[in-house]
Amino acid sequence: MSTILVPPSTHDVVAEANHRIANSLTLLISLVRMQASSVAKRDRPPSKAEVRLMLEGIAARISTIGQLHRLLSNIPQDGVTNLKSHLHDVTDALVSALSSPEQSVVVAHTGDDCLVMVRQVQPIILILCEIFINAMKYAHPAGVPLAMTVDCLPAADGRLVLTISDDGVGLPEGFDANTSEGLGFRVMRSLAAEIGAKLDIISTALGLTFRLSVPASAMASVKLA
Ligand SMILES: Nc1ncnc2c1ncn2[C@@H]1O[C@H](COP(=O)(O)OP(=O)(O)OP(=O)(O)O)[C@@H](O)[C@H]1O
Ligand SMILES: [Mg+2]
Repeated sequence: MSTILVPPSTHDVVAEANHRIANSLTLLISLVRMQASSVAKRDRPPSKAEVRLMLEGIAARISTIGQLHRLLSNIPQDGVTNLKSHLHDVTDALVSALSSPEQSVVVAHTGDDCLVMVRQVQPIILILCEIFINAMKYAHPAGVPLAMTVDCLPAADGRLVLTISDDGVGLPEGFDANTSEGLGFRVMRSLAAEIGAKLDIISTALGLTFRLSVPASAMASVKLA
């Protein structure tokens, strides 16, 4: 019987894809487990609407990760990509997954091209996902249409600054987002730490703003072809 030798490059690509998929599945499992434990800690059962949003939220996270795998499948993990185009694609998908007649949402994008390492994209996009899910749930308790803005800019010092805002009621009085034990804020803090990014949260009566400052990677200064 003859042996078919797989060229090393193909083998490497498959190994990297498997590694990425395994990491993403581990991340999804831990997100769902964190959600299960936060439900268990509640002092009252969730309402039908809360269960619906919770399940829609899980579906949106799974679908976001699936979409990222497709978008990034041709770029090696240590390659460079334009974050701006992923922000557009993913927000379009989140809007169609999460908006409903009771809570519609429009998103405005501003900023410039922002080159990032491929391995930085998933944590950044998952932070955006948590921010969107929360904005749909809490920004407008009366259900008025939600307006979100997503701004991505390279800063002078080489960092890139991603600013995501909603036009809602802001955080509850006395709420500290830096120490909150809520699933969303815990996930955002740990994803930001994973890529060495700084996450600032600014709450006013005009809405909630998240500013993620991502360190430049040496490779990201390389121009895309
Ligand atoms: N965009 C927002 N506008 C107003 N309040 C918000 C917003 N985002 C979050 N909050 C407040 O922050 C709290 C914590 O959010 P977090 O995502 O950590 O947990 P959660 O959404 O309540 O639960 P889970 O994420 O497990 O479904 C929310 O309960 C809500 O009171
Ligand atoms: Mg949340």
